[in-house]
Amino acid sequence: MENMHAQNLPPQSDRRGFFKKTFATVIVAIIGLFPVASGLTVFFDPLRRKSSTTGAVRVTTLEALPIDGVPRKFPLVASRIDAWNTFTEVPIGAVYLRRTGEKTLQAFNASCPHAGCFVDYLPERGAFHCPCHESTFTADGKIDNPDSPAQRGLDDLKVEIRNSKEVWVEFRNFQAGHAEKIPMA
Ligand code: FES
Repeated sequence: MENMHAQNLPPQSDRRGFFKKTFATVIVAIIGLFPVASGLTVFFDPLRRKSSTTGAVRVTTLEALPIDGVPRKFPLVASRIDAWNTFTEVPIGAVYLRRTGEKTLQAFNASCPHAGCFVDYLPERGAFHCPCHESTFTADGKIDNPDSPAQRGLDDLKVEIRNSKEVWVEFRNFQAGHAEKIPMA
């Protein structure tokens, strides 16, 4: 009887082979699912994709900037793109531009590096002033009053003149509250 039962079972080596094959198939299936799963995470989670602004922004023309070096403020708008939408012409911040020569310019992010309020330029003082906590900055962006709570001067930005007259600024935001310029992610 015991012999008859043993005869109905497949040989032991066949059973081992079957289990090996099944195990290998399951492992391959699991490995194959990983890329699919991570792809779905990105697809369904737009917040993981950073909003981005265009690098350089055309701000104004050279003639719009006074030759005496007094800064002028320009609000900036640009297109933003996230995973789902393109937003055209949305405010992204503001810059101050000033001439340092006939064809040379300086550009600053208008946000105070202390905590992010917009600074004002006070022509009567020839300096920038932050209304939030009284930081002051010289016209070329350095800390004016050493008692200013800001730990660094205004954040300068890359600026260039294109086609002899267009002023383009590479707009960036930096983290407030640090002594160093740390770009926002
Ligand atoms: S935000 Fe400008 S001094 Fe605090």
